[in-house]
Amino acid sequence: MHACGDPTVLSVDEVPPPGPPVGDEITARVAASSINGTDLGLRRGDVRVATWGRLPFTLGFDLAGEVVHCGPRVSAFRPGDRVAALLGHDGGAQASYAVLRQHRAARVPDRVPLESAAGVVLAGLTALQALHHVGRLGARGRGARVLVVGASGGIGCHAVQLAALAGAHVTAVASGRKLPRVREYGAHELVDRSTCDIARLDGSWDLVLDTPGTAAHAELAGLLAPGGTLVTTRPISRDVWRAAPALLPGRGKRPPSWGAVTTRARPADLAHLLHLLADGRLRSPVDRVLPLDRGAEAHAHAETEVVGKVVLSL
Ligand SMILES: NC(=O)c1ccc[n+]([C@@H]2O[C@H](COP(=O)([O-])OP(=O)(O)OC[C@H]3O[C@@H](n4cnc5c(N)ncnc54)[C@H](OP(=O)(O)O)[C@@H]3O)[C@@H](O)[C@H]2O)c1
Repeated sequence: MHACGDPTVLSVDEVPPPGPPVGDEITARVAASSINGTDLGLRRGDVRVATWGRLPFTLGFDLAGEVVHCGPRVSAFRPGDRVAALLGHDGGAQASYAVLRQHRAARVPDRVPLESAAGVVLAGLTALQALHHVGRLGARGRGARVLVVGASGGIGCHAVQLAALAGAHVTAVASGRKLPRVREYGAHELVDRSTCDIARLDGSWDLVLDTPGTAAHAELAGLLAPGGTLVTTRPISRDVWRAAPALLPGRGKRPPSWGAVTTRARPADLAHLLHLLADGRLRSPVDRVLPLDRGAEAHAHAETEVVGKVVLSL
């Protein structure tokens, strides 16, 4: 990506291969990398400071592929291992090779295709950590009521499945035309955001996950049951601060709370997701796989009709 803008700013360039891995780094030959909301936002220039002075920028924050070289301190992998990995803020997964520290990767079980594995890394980790680490879904017991806003998105399709798997009653919010496919991921109730004002929903929820971080937090906070938690993927936003008074601790016996998820490369979480995939308890929500040189088309699809994930193959 040489500039911010519409999908036509993307190109495939010939660049020198990365140097050998050092310390606990591995070099992976990338087979697949998914497009996340983060890639789309960076490309559009939503937060220009994120790419300021860093262009050209190689997008891609997750990958699946094969280990080709190991640094001298690598203990968890060896060449030939199939891995999936979450990269850091520098991205760089949408390239033939990526170098990363071993704690960012987990082994992909043999029966899981690498394109499916690539589809779960960043979005699946974010959904898992938002629901369980921030939202403490496990402690709320079976039947907890969960509202997923942005349920047709990458994080949303994982969140719907993971919440249902934990025994929750899941209400999914998405655009109407996407709802039939969201239902396939296990949502119990569906809300069409194009015809319904989310703030006026009739009900209360133990956990509200706002995946796009665009809904008005003050209004979502009003949908929480006593002791409920609102989890956002966008910790720094004006909406969040506007909602703060409604979410301040100490009001009533079971006050609502607010939390933000910052996705972490926890190998145990990634291994858990990959095992759920291998067992068939989680579906990788891959909507379309396109080759890297059709990246512009892939981005355009990811910004419009997609339900779940678009994956780039190399
Ligand atoms: N904090 C972190 O560490 C972290 C980690 C990963 C991602 N993120 C952020 O999380 C966000 C979502 O990521 P993603 O990969 O799931 O994105 P995505 O695949 O693009 O999905 C976002 C979904 O939000 C829905 N949406 C868009 N605008 C909306 C609005 N105004 N109100 C309600 N729903 C709306 C869209 O669904 P419909 O068209 O069906 O409504 C879309 O499918 C991105 O901004 C990303 O940067 C944060």
